[in-house]
Amino acid sequence: MDYKKIIATYGTPCYCYDTNTLLDRIEYLKDKLKGKKIVYAIKANTFIVKELVDSVSRLEICSPGEYHIVKRLGISGDKMVISGVYKDYDTIDEIMRDNDVLRYTIESLEQYHLLQELSKKHHKDINVLIRLTSGNQFGVSVDDLKSIIRDNNDEHLQIKGIEYFSGTQKHSLKRLEKEIDKLNDLANELKEEFNYVPEEIEYGPGLPIFYFQDEEFDEDSFLDELNNLLKRLDKYHVSLEIGRSIASSCGTYLTQVVDLKENQNGLFAIVDGGIHHLVYYGQTMAMRIPHFDLIQKEKGDNKTYNIYGSLCTINDCLVKNLEVPKLHIHDVFVFKNVGAYSATEGISLFLSRDLPKIILIDKNHEFHLLRDTIKTSDINYPNYEGEK
Ligand SMILES: Cc1ncc(COP(=O)(O)O)c(C=O)c1O
Repeated sequence: MDYKKIIATYGTPCYCYDTNTLLDRIEYLKDKLKGKKIVYAIKANTFIVKELVDSVSRLEICSPGEYHIVKRLGISGDKMVISGVYKDYDTIDEIMRDNDVLRYTIESLEQYHLLQELSKKHHKDINVLIRLTSGNQFGVSVDDLKSIIRDNNDEHLQIKGIEYFSGTQKHSLKRLEKEIDKLNDLANELKEEFNYVPEEIEYGPGLPIFYFQDEEFDEDSFLDELNNLLKRLDKYHVSLEIGRSIASSCGTYLTQVVDLKENQNGLFAIVDGGIHHLVYYGQTMAMRIPHFDLIQKEKGDNKTYNIYGSLCTINDCLVKNLEVPKLHIHDVFVFKNVGAYSATEGISLFLSRDLPKIILIDKNHEFHLLRDTIKTSDINYPNYEGEK
């Protein structure tokens, strides 16, 4: 990728999302998880939705904001599954008015009744998946799930199956096996007790990304093993809800050195970004070395630096004790694997620093500015003038 051109055109800090990397990644996952439909959880990154929508079966949408993004992109209702722990009347009303065929998840009895009411109001036949809880605030208990299946005779609402997602960054195949067996057992019980066979099981495996240089992960074997485990659900149409594992690798975050200094604790490089923009999973970043490239005008001998961002907090450490060729002001760090969550999970409003630009690199390597710099000073401003 021509980072020098990106830096010259857009400056730093910025995120870049590369379409070819993204599409190759989806093909790789499809190839490994044979026959499974892929549902992209758009919370991982909304900026790449248009690029990938034709490569996945559905988009998982969890909030009014996510719905409005997808609607504005002109994506049709049959590509969506409307999910989320809080579904408000007005948004679901709008969605039903906008679309003909749609899938919804049910995360509570309240949501079941809301969907009944609105599908009746709009005379819309809808498909629903009941989300099974893993014991937290999401989804419904086994008892509630069974009672919905047992009692549902709604003319508009067809129960297509089960949804299950218990968390992200799951490294343990044992844990995935347990979850797959749990879903299989539940489906068997539903058949025995109510002669109900789920048509679909939508399962979020929380596929992991390994962000740091000291980690080893044989992803090929991991996915082969997961694919074997999923064969236990072969009786059903299985779709996999995935966010992080689809989006991470296509994204880079560019931030440049703006100051250099030395004190009793070593050499410090200050960059124009920081932890408000760059979030890997967990808070361990400063102690680990993420994957990165360094763009330098001149190369020198290696030195050890602490790389800090430009927030007013000692926590704003991107990498500690990093050995790199002697740094100069304007050298640019290109942090990798930031395509998922990083742009949204940061404490972006802290210190009223601007939100970074977002650049898409299309299939033909052309650049597109998808979001310009946004001034958070406007958001953090106490707007007395607005009172009038
Ligand atoms: C319901 C649901 N499905 C899928 C995902 C995506 O998870 P991941 O990014 O780990 O693939 C999430 C993430 O929070 C989720 O809440």
